[in-house]
Amino acid sequence: MKKFTLLIGLLVVVLISYWLFASPSVSSDVDISSSPEAIARGEYLVTAGGCISCHRSIEDEESFGGGLGLETEFGTFYAPNITPDVETGIGNWAAEDFLKALQHGRSPTGSFYYPVFPYRAYAGLSDQDVLDMAAYLMSLEPVRYQAPNHEIPGWLFRWTIAGWNRIADIAQPEPESFGDSLVARGAYLARNLGHCSECHTPRNGLGIPDFAREYAGAEIGEKTIEAIDAEALADWAFNNFDLFMLIGLKPDGEFVGGDMNEVIEFNTSKLTDEDRDALAAYFTRHNQ
Ligand code: HEC
Ligand code: HEC
Repeated sequence: MKKFTLLIGLLVVVLISYWLFASPSVSSDVDISSSPEAIARGEYLVTAGGCISCHRSIEDEESFGGGLGLETEFGTFYAPNITPDVETGIGNWAAEDFLKALQHGRSPTGSFYYPVFPYRAYAGLSDQDVLDMAAYLMSLEPVRYQAPNHEIPGWLFRWTIAGWNRIADIAQPEPESFGDSLVARGAYLARNLGHCSECHTPRNGLGIPDFAREYAGAEIGEKTIEAIDAEALADWAFNNFDLFMLIGLKPDGEFVGGDMNEVIEFNTSKLTDEDRDALAAYFTRHNQ
């Protein structure tokens, strides 16, 4: 009897470990294209995804050499080098590695990324978009630079993120579908590529976003981040939002400040008119 209980216990441990640590399944017959079309499309997506906000080199703003310290309530994380340098960057990454990293937050060796890398937002990206981003990143000039180690508490092991991901899965709403294709594109740009929730949605004590209060604003350390939900944007017309995404001017005549300036400079101001319209359509859909 004792043996039997032990066996069941062991089986439960194995199953739970499998559930927590299993390698994510991604498409395997994929390649990183070197076609100019894929690279150009990837460049645009990398811009829309705001990758440069975190991965820009501390020595050269234009490159993805990394090194920027990102302060969070759990410590300072340093964004790594994502140029194709073999030793210090991602020079030997294959197509599948990009899918695992961006859609699942897992490294090529199976280890877990910390969610300061907004992979949970990027999880909704299409394979094609991720692979085009890979095509662009792999076409860049390699930069030799090793980012410093994260300055985080000793207990914050990478494997703890296995459990965190599962708890976050429970809080993750089913993807909503929209009848209007412009609004649907806006939702993809906001929820996935543009990861607006990373800053604008409140989080619980574990740092998991509370999607029941999507865009309700947040406190990050001393900083207050404004709400951008239907209620907060009740007075924003489509054109107000469009102009805001382009130059940061609010309907009350004030210019936005803080981290949002960077989001506008590096990301939303560089979107095509159509994509900016899509964001405006999505965020002001309640006011139409
Ligand atoms: C909010 C900041 C932030 C943004 C935005 C961001 N990243 Fe990252 N990224 C990070 C951090 C921090 C890490 C390291 C995480 C860790 O060590 O667990 C990382 C890790 C990575 C890695 C793994 C690198 C390695 O050597 O293992 C890749 C690839 C990557 N990011 C690509 C991207 C791409 C592509 C985008 C845009 C679509 C992007 N990141 C946007 C912060 C960010
Ligand atoms: C890195 C964090 C961050 C990200 C990502 C981010 N924002 Fe912001 N946003 C801010 C901060 C901080 C403010 C307040 C700035 C200030 O104090 O003026 C702000 C302000 C705003 C405002 C003005 C709200 C008001 O009433 O004053 C809007 C609208 C907005 N953001 C939309 C967006 C959209 C859309 C996205 C995604 C494409 C986004 N933000 C992504 C940090 C962020």
